[in-house]
Amino acid sequence: MAQRDTNVLAFVGKQANRETLRFITCGSVDDGKSTLIGRLLYESKNIFDDQLQALESDSKRYGTQGEKMDLALLVDGLQAEREQGITIDVAYRFFASDKRRFIVADTPGHEQYTRNMATGASTAHVAVILVDARKGVLVQTRRHSRIVSLMGIRQVVLAVNKMDLVGYDQKTFDATVADYRAFAAELGFEGLQAIPLSGLDGDNVLTRTQNLAWYDGPSLLEHLEAVPITGANERADFRMPVQLVNRPNLDFRGFCGRIAEGSVRPGDAVRVLPAGTRTTVRAVIDGFDEVAEAGVGTSVTITLADEVDASRGDVLVAADAPAEVADQFDAKLLWMGEHAMSPGRQYLMRSGCKEVTATITGIKYRQDVNTGGHMAAKTLELNEIATVDISTSAPLVFEPYASNKVLGSFILIDKLTFETVGAGMIDFALRRASNIHWQALEIDRAARARLKHQTPRCIWFTGLSGSGKSTIADLLEKRMHAAGLHTYLLDGDNVRHGLNRDLGFTEADRVENIRRVAEVARLMVEAGLVVLVSFISPFRSERRMARGLFGEGEFIEVFVDTPIEECERRDVKGLYAKARRGELKNFTGIDSEYELPEHPEIHLRTAELKPDECVRRIIESLN
Ligand code: ADX
Repeated sequence: MAQRDTNVLAFVGKQANRETLRFITCGSVDDGKSTLIGRLLYESKNIFDDQLQALESDSKRYGTQGEKMDLALLVDGLQAEREQGITIDVAYRFFASDKRRFIVADTPGHEQYTRNMATGASTAHVAVILVDARKGVLVQTRRHSRIVSLMGIRQVVLAVNKMDLVGYDQKTFDATVADYRAFAAELGFEGLQAIPLSGLDGDNVLTRTQNLAWYDGPSLLEHLEAVPITGANERADFRMPVQLVNRPNLDFRGFCGRIAEGSVRPGDAVRVLPAGTRTTVRAVIDGFDEVAEAGVGTSVTITLADEVDASRGDVLVAADAPAEVADQFDAKLLWMGEHAMSPGRQYLMRSGCKEVTATITGIKYRQDVNTGGHMAAKTLELNEIATVDISTSAPLVFEPYASNKVLGSFILIDKLTFETVGAGMIDFALRRASNIHWQALEIDRAARARLKHQTPRCIWFTGLSGSGKSTIADLLEKRMHAAGLHTYLLDGDNVRHGLNRDLGFTEADRVENIRRVAEVARLMVEAGLVVLVSFISPFRSERRMARGLFGEGEFIEVFVDTPIEECERRDVKGLYAKARRGELKNFTGIDSEYELPEHPEIHLRTAELKPDECVRRIIESLN
């Protein structure tokens, strides 16, 4: 037993002293990623006996390799993917050689799973890009390489797999490598090692074999053992996003988080951003112990000398070298949503530990994944990469992604579904948050409203074309006017003749249409008016955005609920007929969606109510 204990300790000691290399593998479906990783695990003896037994029985059940063991099954751990024969989530695997420890993120090759790939890539030192020797460089290979480059990975392995299937032919390998090098020249990789191999037979995975005698470079493992590891900078200026304020009792207030860059000691002068408050570090606590210093990557609790205000999402930084604070950025964006991105739409943006509302205010250009060429774009589809302007609702503490991956990266989340729809990297600030202030004016909305003897409001009508929005709004305005109220009616058809003349009926244009009219309505409410807005406003997201511009009780959503059959029967403008004939594209209710209001303040079922009655109900509810 004693003997065994010392062995274990020696083993653990040896493990702990080795550095860790993180890498990702990417490739198209069927490029053999899982088999390759399985081979690495298997041959480097990083498999337990029970796993091996399971593998043998699983190979018989699910294997695709006949009598041979199917090494991919080691990696494709999820039941679903076994059954479909594909890899569908990021799988992290740990293994070690005598020289290094490794963490590999096996990232899927399906088009729609680029999201997972981006997740794995954000922390990796090296990317192993697999191509099938028979197929060479594919669009997917280029897309993955661009994402890898975008995520800041500078060391790349081009693994030309399945060499056994091309008779270990050197010419095939050389041609693929030349093709890839030409493409990758502009991607800024510092190291690009091309390796011919066979994951299935094990050639060049751990050791070089006779089959590839013409190749004189390292095997995959040899290369991974030697490639330089560059990571977060220990000597950089201190930055720590606050994840949690720990306040167990009145005497203790600790700020918990993971050090993103640099290091921290008691006595260090720091600032809390975005506020900028200066103070000094009193203690640094790692686990249960106060420590003299903590470095990058460590999770710590910090107490401060003064009672400063700091909350989740704030960032503690070195006082003399603070990070930047801004609310408009130039950024690279990888779109991962099934639903296209529309400029002007609001998304949740998470960066560091901070969450804010963000809008893409413009797409500078979209990148062609094959050529890298810049293309004009109005929206972004799944997997597209673009350079965009982004604007946030609150100031964000950041650093360019090139110098700080934690404070330079963000994800975008859909506000209604909570799905992650984008991954971004900040290039630089377009506007410092402090340069434009909201100008506080002497004469405010309350003063203006008093003079008019009324409560300013926005009454927002939504419903299908021909549902009766304008008729009801018009009638309501007449009544209000007669009663001495100061009103204004913003009608879709009319506003589209002027302010929004440049907009059509694509989703992106409708988003912008509503954004503008909502802003105008807000200004009018500021001016003390009762504003009536009559727009189809088909999307929940934008109606919610509009609501967000107004105070409690100021925004009244009126759903003019008329069945489409009835709208079509009336067809006052003849547009439904045109749309049915295919002469009018993107017509709401026909080939463009109308998302039903979920909680309108007023719901008018026009099939049961005359316009007069509708107006009476609105007035009643306003009073
Ligand atoms: S919204 O969807 O962006 O809110 P808006 O209310 O401004 O639409 O404009 C709708 C009006 O534009 C309709 O009442 C109709 O007269 C006209 N129109 C023309 N083309 C379309 C279309 N493709 N879809 C809906 N309305 C259209």
